[in-house]
Amino acid sequence: METPAAYADLEKNPPETEVVGREVVIFDEIDSTNTYGLEHGTDGMVIVADRQTAGRGRQGRTWHSAAGLGLWFTVVFAGKGEGLPFAAPLAVRDALAERCELRIKWPNDLLCGDKKVCGILLERRNDITVVGIGLNVHHVPDDFPPELRDKAGSLESETGGRWDRCRILRDILTQLDGKVMLIHDQGIEPLRAPWVEACNLVGRRIQCGTHRGTVTDIDSHGAIILNTSGGVQTIYSGDITYLDGD
Ligand code: BTN
Repeated sequence: METPAAYADLEKNPPETEVVGREVVIFDEIDSTNTYGLEHGTDGMVIVADRQTAGRGRQGRTWHSAAGLGLWFTVVFAGKGEGLPFAAPLAVRDALAERCELRIKWPNDLLCGDKKVCGILLERRNDITVVGIGLNVHHVPDDFPPELRDKAGSLESETGGRWDRCRILRDILTQLDGKVMLIHDQGIEPLRAPWVEACNLVGRRIQCGTHRGTVTDIDSHGAIILNTSGGVQTIYSGDITYLDGD
């Protein structure tokens, strides 16, 4: 199978990293890079596809993964993936920081302005954890299904510049590798603290599912501690809406 031209350079020049990208597998088309990683992954393997036919998002949703428009990839880690929920969004944010300012929306969406440009899906099976990253790069608004158009954006639609998917991928892999090595050496705290700060949630009024209230803390697992009229709730996953403005 021929490597999609967008990623050919990655095969010739693999990333200079410790763990992430030990092996890079590139597909023109696949059902889901996360599924491949869960079934065939080894520690540090990166799976990237130009198109996914069954890309998965959080909360059981579909992730639209058309050919030529975005960066759809998965990084595989042996073990339980401690700290990855913090490392992954910070790695994406930091990799792109020179050209655009991304905000992290709990738990790990990345927004450019008020548009979601990147989603992250962590999954675990047996002793493998996969970090699936979907980054909208070249989309114009019409490339998104109508119901997503006012919420989703791409790097190009939001910054007005041209972006190169292979370069972005290389930069994210390098950032993620650095953060994974930091966790290896120092544990999760050096990443948890900046992630909590980047989420900017403590003190805010939010709604998540049927729960409404004020965030009083984020615990060591990244869960929201929410003070509601019915008592304190711990929220591990879901989609939040800010009730006190964006
Ligand atoms: C979200 O819902 O925000 C998470 C989206 C994650 C999408 C990525 S694309 C690469 C990887 N493979 C998948 O099937 N999903 C993730």
